[in-house]
Amino acid sequence: MSAKDQHTQTITRVFDDAAAEFDRSGVDFFTPLGMQLTKLAGAARGDRVLDVGCGMGSSLIPAAERVGPAGFVTGIDLSPAMVRRLNGLLAEHGMTNARATTMNGERPDFPERSFEVVQAGFSVMHFSSAPDCLGRYPRLLVPGGRFCYSELVDEDGLPDLVPRDAFAELAPFFPTDLPNPRERGIITWNQTPESTSEALRERGFTRVTVTEHESEVELGSGDRWNAWTMSTGLRQAWVNVPAHEVAAVRARTAAVIEQRRDAQGRLVLPVRVRYVLCETGQ
Ligand SMILES: C[S@@+](CC[C@H](N)C(=O)[O-])C[C@H]1O[C@@H](n2cnc3c(N)ncnc32)[C@H](O)[C@@H]1O
Repeated sequence: MSAKDQHTQTITRVFDDAAAEFDRSGVDFFTPLGMQLTKLAGAARGDRVLDVGCGMGSSLIPAAERVGPAGFVTGIDLSPAMVRRLNGLLAEHGMTNARATTMNGERPDFPERSFEVVQAGFSVMHFSSAPDCLGRYPRLLVPGGRFCYSELVDEDGLPDLVPRDAFAELAPFFPTDLPNPRERGIITWNQTPESTSEALRERGFTRVTVTEHESEVELGSGDRWNAWTMSTGLRQAWVNVPAHEVAAVRARTAAVIEQRRDAQGRLVLPVRVRYVLCETGQ
């Protein structure tokens, strides 16, 4: 199996395993940021929207509300468990203008000009071969269409919500044989707004706007941070921790996170999110 296929298999397994508890850690994260992405992607009533890496619908559900009954939102995700659960949730809420299906966002399989808007919340950052696969999206959009994706801003591969000392506790448990697309130094195309814009314009988008938003995430406790990481790529490390060591590793990561309590006793970490809005010409 190629390294790329192995990466895809790992990501699928990580999010399949995460599906039942995804975004239920008590940390208010994916839901508000999915709403923000949807707002920036800007779907209008009646639009056809594709949500790439839809997970449990943090951005798909608000998009379905925006497009209304005359529009439709298609969600795609690598993880069949996410897709099954999200479709169950949509049925439970009687939402008939959205549907998820299992598909690799690195090879989107839709006819040309199928969508007015494509949006992707924290999923492009898991692609093994961005930005090349992003070059497969302009043809799926109508002229004047918009593709907006979000990702965590990181320093040397680590986003604000994963402090270096907490990561150090988990680092020994990461699989070493897999290509981590955010591996330090390997990814260069998205290091600056200019390089991001250039890479995406070379691949068929006519206008690219990169913005960064900073907000604060209330963690509540170190234990809750541990629970939050189970909805992220850090899960890859947690599942490798031998059963007899799990409690000790959890206690150590919780302790280093707890050190960040401020003078008022609040445990809050900043989070910088990058939104990349790519447009196709008329
Ligand atoms: C961190 S979750 C975010 C889910 C959702 N967009 C949100 O913001 O709550 C990343 C999701 O992207 C999916 N994903 C990762 N790589 C993917 C790919 N190549 N194609 C489709 N989905 C992918 C994962 O299975 C997971 O559901």
